[in-house]
Amino acid sequence: MNKSTRRTVIAGNWKMNKTPAEAKQLIEEIKASISGMNTDGCEIVACVPYIDIDIAVKTAAGSAVKIGAENCHWAKNGAFTGEISADMLVACGVEYVIIGHSERRQYFGETDITVNQRVKAALEAGLKVILCVGELLEQREQGITDETVSLQTKIALLGITEEQMADIIIAYEPVWAIGTGKTATSEQADEVCGVIRKVIASLYSDKCAEATTIQYGGSMNAKNAKELLGMVNVDGGLIGGASLKAEDFFSIISAAQ
Ligand code: 13P
Repeated sequence: MNKSTRRTVIAGNWKMNKTPAEAKQLIEEIKASISGMNTDGCEIVACVPYIDIDIAVKTAAGSAVKIGAENCHWAKNGAFTGEISADMLVACGVEYVIIGHSERRQYFGETDITVNQRVKAALEAGLKVILCVGELLEQREQGITDETVSLQTKIALLGITEEQMADIIIAYEPVWAIGTGKTATSEQADEVCGVIRKVIASLYSDKCAEATTIQYGGSMNAKNAKELLGMVNVDGGLIGGASLKAEDFFSIISAAQ
């Protein structure tokens, strides 16, 4: 397995944090921190709340920082109060979108089927997708982690072609490790990312599996990033809390280099 053939992607998921003024400041700080760095080997993304997109895109322009959203609807437009379509995101200069985050699944009724619909809509609009999968603590304790993550991945990718897989990153985020300070061990992270890679090989091809970027997310921080990112199946990180401070986010980007 040759990890160097895959894109390393470090993405921040700001969740429900930062006003537009704070977003501007954080993007400026991230830009300043990476200004002397050769970022060729690592893609840097900040996924921000909808109201921060405009200022984030303008502030990041011309830098290595790409802007993502945290969700999108599956319809092109229509009577969906409070929702945002993939086309709207593209029109605002967004390049990436997180889909299927466990917080959406837990608190907002997101299902594997709606995740699949959103993935399709995002790809059709020209967005790159960060597709989140991951098991609950109970599922890990029941010994059904592999089955859970495989099923989530398979349903999310229903109807997606091998060609479209070039625009999909998968983020393995064990739910019990999100915002808890409990990180999966690097072996656990590598093992499940490896399971996801096998699912992609079975759905598409070995070539496709080898080319797909699979991130780990869940309490990744400046201290544990290097070890996690050094694992053969871990090609990047989806970072919550530690993406809200430029210094911490920069440490993780440095660990990925
Ligand atoms: P934390 O890094 O805060 O655990 O969040 C991870 C996450 O949910 C990223 O999407």
